[in-house]
Amino acid sequence: MTGKTGGVLALGEPLVEFNAATEGALEQADSFAAGYGGDTSNMVIAARRTGARAGYVTRVGDDAFGRRLLDLWRAEGVGTGHVVVEPHGRTGIYFVARHGGGAHAFTYYRADSPASRLSPADVPEEAVAAAGVLHVSGITQAISASACDAAFHAMTVARAHGTLVSYDPNHRPALWPEERARAIVTRSAELADIALPNLEEGRLLTGEHDPEAVLGAFAARCRGVVVLKMGADGALVGADGRTTHVPAHPVTPVDAAGAGDTFDGAFAALLLEGATPVEAARYAVVAAALTTTGPGAVGPIPSRAAVRARLTTAGVAG
Ligand SMILES: Nc1ncnc2c1ncn2[C@@H]1O[C@H](COP(=O)(O)OP(=O)(O)OP(=O)(O)O)[C@@H](O)[C@H]1O
Ligand SMILES: [Mg+2]
Repeated sequence: MTGKTGGVLALGEPLVEFNAATEGALEQADSFAAGYGGDTSNMVIAARRTGARAGYVTRVGDDAFGRRLLDLWRAEGVGTGHVVVEPHGRTGIYFVARHGGGAHAFTYYRADSPASRLSPADVPEEAVAAAGVLHVSGITQAISASACDAAFHAMTVARAHGTLVSYDPNHRPALWPEERARAIVTRSAELADIALPNLEEGRLLTGEHDPEAVLGAFAARCRGVVVLKMGADGALVGADGRTTHVPAHPVTPVDAAGAGDTFDGAFAALLLEGATPVEAARYAVVAAALTTTGPGAVGPIPSRAAVRARLTTAGVAG
């Protein structure tokens, strides 16, 4: 086995975002701000801004959007050695319409994207073995059968080499049928050391309603830590047989996109430093809250220094 580098490695689909400048239907929008999305890409950037070493595994096209994403990861210091650039590939993009009160509607152009052709052959086994945390999501698994196979292969390699498996169901009903989602999320939770569902998808996937019961249903499957993300109500952390509520950090949200992904990335980075799950969650709720205070998913992901300043004010070490 190669030596552990101790970083965070994520596998999934990145996207370029076009966010309407004005409120209303896409039909009426005539100006868009370009940005970035894709849950696993957001996560790995959040881990990097928290201070972890980070790398990303994906496929992009050799088009302007693929180049734009590569420029982003390089600027962030996220390793791109395992990004395949597909000749003639068309990198996925999406449009965001804003409807006031923070409501958003997403329109995706990602069918037949290079990332949907991810397969087990794209999994860099040595890099997975050397990483401290491998992160995959339900979106990685939902975009295609071969990408789902890639996610399971990566998780299996991680487990064989003592790399922690981090898993966010990020259930998107439009991407896969509910029965398949439930089966795949359940199996993935069994493979995960860190499971990070949100309350809504947790309810849907477990059939439970109360947050403690949803957490318990995941904890019964997952051998490690389960964190139930609850938006403005913060997070419930289940670890070592104990449940701890970590309240949200109070903010005035502008755009919640990427909050969950930022939580995931910050949480993994802190665990790698030796923080306890509850300490990591106390940091992650601040990082996630700050992500909601600006437009777009990636721009507002805070640096370590920005989160630490808030934590100091709140009297918590970070
Ligand atoms: N309005 C808010 N105020 C303060 N903190 C928030 C707010 N919304 C989200 N957060 C923080 O972000 C974390 C993740 O948000 P959420 O529970 O919405 O996850 P998610 O649904 O996985 O997000 P995503 O939409 O990115 O997938 C929460 O646990 C909380 O700490
Ligand atoms: Mg989520």
